[in-house]
Amino acid sequence: MAASRGLLSSSVLLVSVFLTLTEAREHLVGGKANAWKIPSSESDSLNKWAGASRFQIGDSLVWSFDPSKDSVLQVSKKDYETCNTSSPIAAHKDDNTKVKLERSGAYYFISGAEGHCQKGQKLIVVVMSARSQFIGVSPAPSPMEYDGPAVAPTSSGVCLKSGLVVMLGVLTALALF
Ligand SMILES: *[C@@H]1O[C@H](CO)[C@@H](O)[C@H](O)[C@H]1NC(C)=O
Repeated sequence: MAASRGLLSSSVLLVSVFLTLTEAREHLVGGKANAWKIPSSESDSLNKWAGASRFQIGDSLVWSFDPSKDSVLQVSKKDYETCNTSSPIAAHKDDNTKVKLERSGAYYFISGAEGHCQKGQKLIVVVMSARSQFIGVSPAPSPMEYDGPAVAPTSSGVCLKSGLVVMLGVLTALALF
């Protein structure tokens, strides 16, 4: 009886630990409302904000802006660099634009408003691989080194994840009995 109750509570604990580890988050671009605009200085840039944040698979980016004046274009690395708005991968014009980050690697966004990208209204978001999410190491390479779709999470990342869960389970069981 006591043993099965212990087992039950350790499984519940395990599940909640796992959910906490994998919890998806929403990131308001720029960290505040109406931050999708031409930066007033380098230190105010959106990439400065992005560099200080951790993005994980499953998280979402949320933009706040006036849709009558601006839009968000997801573009290729090349179009990001040249501020070419003519053939975006996706164009978002809602006042509550939300983009789910479904893979690791770099995502490139520029403003759809005429001339804004050239003045610095652009954003690179680098999503960590499944592996680095669980060992807490950020991908060292700079965003500019990413080209095209990133590699899918590796199986070793998954192994590491389940290994961690098993380890937590053992520790929980030890603590309970
Ligand atoms: C922008 O991209 C389009 C489509 O890829 C291309 O045809 C056009 O020449 C590019 N414009 C500039 C200024 O690079």
